[in-house]
Amino acid sequence: MKKVEIAGLQELPYSMEEAINRLRVNIRFMGSDVRKVMVISTFPNEGKSLVSMHIWRQMADAGIRTLLLDADMRKSTIMERYKLTADDGTKLIGTSDYLAGNVSLEDAICRTQFEKGDILLNTENVVNPSLLLESKRFSQMLQEVGEKYRYVIVDTPPLDLVSDGERIGSQCDGALLVIRSGETPTKIVKASIAQLERAGCPVLGVVLNRVASAKGGYYSKRYGGYYSGKYYYGREYYQK
Ligand SMILES: Nc1ncnc2c1ncn2[C@@H]1O[C@H](COP(=O)(O)OP(=O)(O)OP(=O)(O)O)[C@@H](O)[C@H]1O
Ligand SMILES: [Mg+2]
Repeated sequence: MKKVEIAGLQELPYSMEEAINRLRVNIRFMGSDVRKVMVISTFPNEGKSLVSMHIWRQMADAGIRTLLLDADMRKSTIMERYKLTADDGTKLIGTSDYLAGNVSLEDAICRTQFEKGDILLNTENVVNPSLLLESKRFSQMLQEVGEKYRYVIVDTPPLDLVSDGERIGSQCDGALLVIRSGETPTKIVKASIAQLERAGCPVLGVVLNRVASAKGGYYSKRYGGYYSGKYYYGREYYQK
């Protein structure tokens, strides 16, 4: 098993760290059947990868064996944004290599600087991953990691254009829906929740990301009418 160094994981501002912490604690209360949790949004750029990365980091920090699975096969940004490199300087392999049958799962999963946190990266983007996601190897992979890790946090592409998200969701135990506050219309959020539930992936919580001010109440009222699940508020912050 290779080891990767994550050099670009910055500390979050206190309010954001706290929001993710509440989310993590609530996932812990959801019982032993909730293991594979997909982080999804309707549109690109709503904050899925950021939320996935930090829930995973907090779970591992809390001593819980957790895998971060990068299932954004089309346009993964984790490796570059968070500056992941193999500590022996060799080329990293990941999800698409495993799905293509080139390597075993053990060889594709990497250890990290967090003792309890492993990562399965997507190192090479694929133009049309639908076939890979529909393959038996994909469901076997999720089944296997679900047994091996207490939690698998699955970072996914957005729901809007392609059906990757639904395919991945059908193999997960639940979803966290990330919404960019003030931008994603209510009607569309409702449709995404219905879409995920049709795919057999219940929405476990909604993360209202990039809340601009302390007046989160406006959004909670606006969204509160149709979804009774938990909300978590991630404030807008600026990375150095
Ligand atoms: N609360 C926030 N405050 C400030 N910047 C944020 C916040 N959430 C996310 N960002 C920034 O917005 C950009 C998009 O975030 P991220 O990559 O996590 O979104 P995504 O939903 O995974 O996007 P994609 O659909 O392309 O996979 C990143 O540069 C990230 O650092
Ligand atoms: Mg992403």
